Amino acid sequence: MQKLLELDYKKMDYQRIILPHIWNLKPYSSARDEFKGNEGIFLDANENPFGSGLSKFWNRYPDPLQHKIKVKLCEIKHIKEDHIFIGNGSDEAIDLLIRMTCKSGTHNMIICPPTYGMYEVSGNINDIEIRKVNLTSDYELDVDNIIQTIDENTRLLFICSPNNPTGNKIKRESIYTILKSFSSGIVIIDEAYIDFSDEESFTNELPYYPQLVVLQTLSKSFGLASLRLGMAFANPEIIRILNKVKPPYNISGATQEQVLDALNNKDFVKKSISQINIEKNKLISELETIVGVESITPSHANFILVKFVNAQALFGFLIKEKVITRNRSSVSLCENSIRITIGTPEENKILISKIKNFYA
Ligand SMILES: Cc1ncc(COP(=O)(O)O)c(C=O)c1O
Repeated sequence: MQKLLELDYKKMDYQRIILPHIWNLKPYSSARDEFKGNEGIFLDANENPFGSGLSKFWNRYPDPLQHKIKVKLCEIKHIKEDHIFIGNGSDEAIDLLIRMTCKSGTHNMIICPPTYGMYEVSGNINDIEIRKVNLTSDYELDVDNIIQTIDENTRLLFICSPNNPTGNKIKRESIYTILKSFSSGIVIIDEAYIDFSDEESFTNELPYYPQLVVLQTLSKSFGLASLRLGMAFANPEIIRILNKVKPPYNISGATQEQVLDALNNKDFVKKSISQINIEKNKLISELETIVGVESITPSHANFILVKFVNAQALFGFLIKEKVITRNRSSVSLCENSIRITIGTPEENKILISKIKNFYA
């Protein structure tokens, strides 16, 4: 692990894949860029000097580059600070990566459905051609098809592992083949659920693949979905551009403060991962005894994708019973499938009893 900090990272011609107006962009210079320190009379940022109407003062703008959080992340992830970007959720990083590399009408991005929906939505918001190469029937990358789909205008390729909504981890060998064959654009590996899996993070591969961006989030294993904090790990050149394009104060002061505390509480994360994985196995064993369950995809995440007999009706029944799951039946390759997030033992027990009632 220590190696990562010491290694020389391979470089590429980043200017070639970043849009010229972004490469040349003079970023917003915030009031606090010119002065470092907490002591002084701050009359530079049009803040309210009297504080805020709360017991705690939130009247000052937060650190635009979230230095304290990054220092902590360096320790946890064994990655240098200039290799880390922090976004308002990893959704922000997804959008920025598209905006800095893809021009509408010229470039394209590749996604591998069924996968996380925001890649497509962000691509559509930015009016970028989206090339879809479906996963195979066992939810693996269709490597040959992906390689054939790449052309000189492909700027981004999204891989999600463990994948949402299927929950499986993607074969490492397939990802290496893609990384070796596509170096004229950015390969994004979204590891939102990596903490629930035994898989090694691709952050360890950053020194060898200059086009690699790894996304992670505090919304899942850390239990901080509401605070909104996602991370992109990449070569400092890519991080520099992400920081140029992001809104100056994208992470609120309240979030920065709470996240710092949470990052110091490693025990909670470890314990909840272990509880979730135990509950997942229990839930799977219970589901396997129910007649209406056709198959369960092996999961390396905090959810499972289950194929049911008459999933649509089951989903409606569960909603009426105030048990909310995610119906994925209309998604290609997920016909009759419902994605179920692992809940507390009590919640899972209720879910199982409702499903049993439905099929009784
Ligand atoms: C694969 C994947 N990536 C990213 C995200 C978004 O994460 P964040 O909450 O950090 O925006 C999600 C959320 O469900 C996800 O499933």
